[in-house]
Amino acid sequence: MKIGIDKIGFATSDLYLDMVDLANARQEDPNKYLIGIGQAKMAVIRPTQDVVTMAATAAKRIISEEDKKNISYVIFATESGIDNSKSAAVYLADLLGILPNVRTLEVKQACYGATAALQLAKGYIALNPESKVLVIGADNARYGIKTPGEPTQGGGAIAMLVSSNPKILELENPTAAYAENIMDFWRPLGHSKALVDGKYSSGIYLDFLRNVWDEQFKKTGFKLQDYGALLFHLPYTKMGLKGLRQILQDASVDDSTRLTREFEYARQFNREVGNLYTGSLYLSFLSLIVNSDSIRSGQRIGLFSYGSGAQAEFFTGILQPNYQEGLAGVDYQSILNKRQAVSVSEYEKFFESHIFDIENIELDYQEDNSDFLLMGVQDYKRKYLGR
Ligand code: HMG
Repeated sequence: MKIGIDKIGFATSDLYLDMVDLANARQEDPNKYLIGIGQAKMAVIRPTQDVVTMAATAAKRIISEEDKKNISYVIFATESGIDNSKSAAVYLADLLGILPNVRTLEVKQACYGATAALQLAKGYIALNPESKVLVIGADNARYGIKTPGEPTQGGGAIAMLVSSNPKILELENPTAAYAENIMDFWRPLGHSKALVDGKYSSGIYLDFLRNVWDEQFKKTGFKLQDYGALLFHLPYTKMGLKGLRQILQDASVDDSTRLTREFEYARQFNREVGNLYTGSLYLSFLSLIVNSDSIRSGQRIGLFSYGSGAQAEFFTGILQPNYQEGLAGVDYQSILNKRQAVSVSEYEKFFESHIFDIENIELDYQEDNSDFLLMGVQDYKRKYLGR
């Protein structure tokens, strides 16, 4: 039985900051951000948006009424949780109307969370082939104003429907996982911004890539020629390029040309959105299948998932015939094109207005036209609106 990604959806903010404007404001050469970091735009998240609202928008774009009847499990991966106890998944299932006969839970391991959720879903479907699992990877990437991590912020949500006989990607066995207890990036309880040892984290990412790539080769014998595309967790798109270059060190011209070409398609959307932490690898996958005119069904895709702290996994999947049907007809390029630019001072204002640990607040949501939004907090309870 084939198990894998049946549908994939994405949502981000309707606002963005141009990286040239940010570079000018921070007295940096714009090419440092555009080429050195590899980012052109960064999603700016409104205070009326959080992981639940963005996940609801992403999921609504793909799930039908029929899907809702078959979803028996919602796994919400995030490191931008809104409650230390209650999962974001139960809020989401409520907003989408898939309560009450469903399991809901939240998982966390930095940017690896969505991969953990996907692998859990795969095992669940193996035992329950008639069911569907809704897997979410959603985050708001916050490092802080005027920090080195600032140009690598962003945010958004990926929603994936996992099922038997999937339309988009059949997940293969085996996979290669690797973990070590490392302080490269972390967010202590009570902090609303990540702490990071940036240069160290970039080196560790590459070390972990080497480990899982070698392990996967030992397990499968797959060589470069066996892959149609290689995808990477993209905290910023240059990071993935460094990973690809490491793998391509001794590659033939054919392999190098093909895999570099597909990587360029696969980083297109991420360049426009920035880091969405655990959804980033899957946004890159979406970018590949939307933008590439050379990738073909039947080809093997290799995916490198990395989450600080740190956990990595390399796994593979086979692109299915008519995989475009799993996009549910959504035009992501036009959604991204319709976003509105904000100035650096507006971005700073939005950044500082996000709410954490507030007992009561009513948010002004008149400007937010999203289908789902956060109206405020009453007695520490988040109040959402779905429309
Ligand atoms: P920095 O120290 O300000 O930048 O911050 P830099 O001086 O290293 O420059 C960056 C690149 O721009 C360099 O290229 C420069 O040469 C180049 P590289 O040597 O890396 O190839 N550059 C230029 N290029 C063209 N024209 C110019 C120019 N000037 C410079 N004029 C850093 C960079 C990534 C460290 C910082 O942004 C940061 O700390 N980011 C956050 C941490 C991060 O993203 N780490 C990635 C690995 S960890 C991970 O992926 C997990 C994560 O997603 C979290 C999770 O798991 O939850 C982060």
